[in-house]
Amino acid sequence: MLKYNNEIIDEVRNSNNILDVVSQYVILKRSGRNYSGLCPFHKEKSPSFYVSPDKQIFHCFGCGEGGDVLGFIRKIENISFKEAIETLAERANIKLPILVNSEKDEKIQKLKSKIYQINEIASEFYQKNLLNPNSKIAQDYVKKRKMDMYTLKTFGIGFAGNFDELYQELKKREFNDEEILASKLVLKSEKTGKMYDAFRNRLMFTIKDIKDRVIAFGGRALDDSKPKYINSPDTLVYNKGRHLFAMNIAKRCGEKTIMLVEGYMDTISLHQRGVHNVVASLGTALTEHQGRLLNGFEKVIIGYDSDSAGQGATARSLEILQTLRFDIRILQLTGAKDPDEYIVKYGSGQIKKAMENSISLVEFKVKKLKESLDLDNVSDKIKFLNELSKIILQVENDIEKEIYISKFSEQYKVSKESIYAQLNKLQYAMNQGNKILEKTNAIKRNPSKEKQENLEKETSRENLIISILLNNNKDDFEKIRNVINIEDFKNEKNRKIAEKLYEQFEKGNINNVMDLFEEDEIINHITYIMSIDFQIADTQKTKKAIEDVSSKFETEKLHDRKSEILKKLASSNLSSEESSELMNELNSINMRLKK
Ligand code: UTP
Ligand code: MN
Repeated sequence: MLKYNNEIIDEVRNSNNILDVVSQYVILKRSGRNYSGLCPFHKEKSPSFYVSPDKQIFHCFGCGEGGDVLGFIRKIENISFKEAIETLAERANIKLPILVNSEKDEKIQKLKSKIYQINEIASEFYQKNLLNPNSKIAQDYVKKRKMDMYTLKTFGIGFAGNFDELYQELKKREFNDEEILASKLVLKSEKTGKMYDAFRNRLMFTIKDIKDRVIAFGGRALDDSKPKYINSPDTLVYNKGRHLFAMNIAKRCGEKTIMLVEGYMDTISLHQRGVHNVVASLGTALTEHQGRLLNGFEKVIIGYDSDSAGQGATARSLEILQTLRFDIRILQLTGAKDPDEYIVKYGSGQIKKAMENSISLVEFKVKKLKESLDLDNVSDKIKFLNELSKIILQVENDIEKEIYISKFSEQYKVSKESIYAQLNKLQYAMNQGNKILEKTNAIKRNPSKEKQENLEKETSRENLIISILLNNNKDDFEKIRNVINIEDFKNEKNRKIAEKLYEQFEKGNINNVMDLFEEDEIINHITYIMSIDFQIADTQKTKKAIEDVSSKFETEKLHDRKSEILKKLASSNLSSEESSELMNELNSINMRLKK
């Protein structure tokens, strides 16, 4: 992998104040020397996300994510370290040097750029072929689906022929077989070794990334034959779970709300009729990568099909969107199975209305619950009231709670009083349950509590040492090294960090700690240590802290050695010489421990 050198990385980092950069994504409030806000990396109601302008780091005490300004951009934009450098260099108007590729990288880069070219050519080839008089069946199909010329152009809609027409075209354009096969638009028969087009006799949809590059295709059968759709497999330029169909267009629509639909036709049909804030996950449940692509939109409407597959995908996508903190709504359509059918039948005004009226997660849960029950049946009605109350109980905001109670009471014909009564009952039972739980936990925890506390003390002692090392003072390092060996660090992360820091100090000084580590886990731990204020800013306190910690480490080592000696002495097969030697050592250990 190609890397920018440390000087340039430092320049980029130093030219982008973490406070300014984070403020573009998170609303921050001053709190002492630091700033805090709601963490963009996990869902939370009260702020545990901190930015320290002094240390130029961020850390979330809720989810543990942390890092410097480069780490922040990498995580929030879901990009690589290299891309983060490029993004922030651009922000600060720094011109980056052009990286020279190693031979292997260069080959892959070249192949990638060939695949982009092939994809571009293929898209045009299919589109041209659709207009060919011989393609009447495809043209009829396009008419039947009411797609207009503008749509055909925007979505690169075309038609794939029957044999190896694309292969012949690509050969004519002087691509070699290796490049053509890498695009996966042409396959090689294992039996005969002959090359043939992967997409045949299908209506073709062009898939583009957010930079408008052609990355893949979907091909629909023109009749009821199976499979209905064939999609490009992953290639060097395409990874299915990392893209959303039509995001290149939707991201330019300027809306705060985006709707997620299942299919090509849903997306295309809505865009054609003026609804541009729509993208498709193409038949699968949303991945986390796709979820992050929605960053920048506030509200996400899930507009999946009403069939069971669509509902399953809804459930799984909900989980992802929830952790990403979007305001989530679920589209409710009646009289059509998917958004395409709906807009064709009722028009764009109606679907926009449906989008505005899409329901919240709480309402969705209640609706699902109701569907499984018959409210005319008494026992079902009791069950409904009980489950409904459980759902309402999870709503944190009291005003919101009230609104839901009124709404559900009206909608499902249950009295407000009975909902309130049930809520109180649940709340009471929950409180009792918590009390019992606390008690049993207290009983259970006690024996190991001491052990747990010791472990915590040990870790925080280690954290303190790491924190002193991070202050980057060579004298302190030497004092520490004299008493604490790498193996003395019991916490694995601390051990790894100490190992690197010792190594760096031996060489000179620590330049930038964040650059020393690649694992997020370790970086998060470092920002954690940097964020908890050990209040060791002045030298006097540092000196005292080192002494304290050193002596604790030493005492511990002595204790360990002592029990080792005692064990040895207890075993009988020692010569008198050996045992007297051990006794001497034991004496001196005891003396030192007393001191
Ligand atoms: P749908 O069956 O809902 O298709 O599948 P659609 O987009 O509404 O298409 P029409 O209206 O029937 O023409 C939704 C999505 O699931 C993927 C495709 O991405 C499709 O758009 N899918 C579906 C496949 O990949 N393969 C299939 O065989 C079927
Ligand atoms: Mn459809």
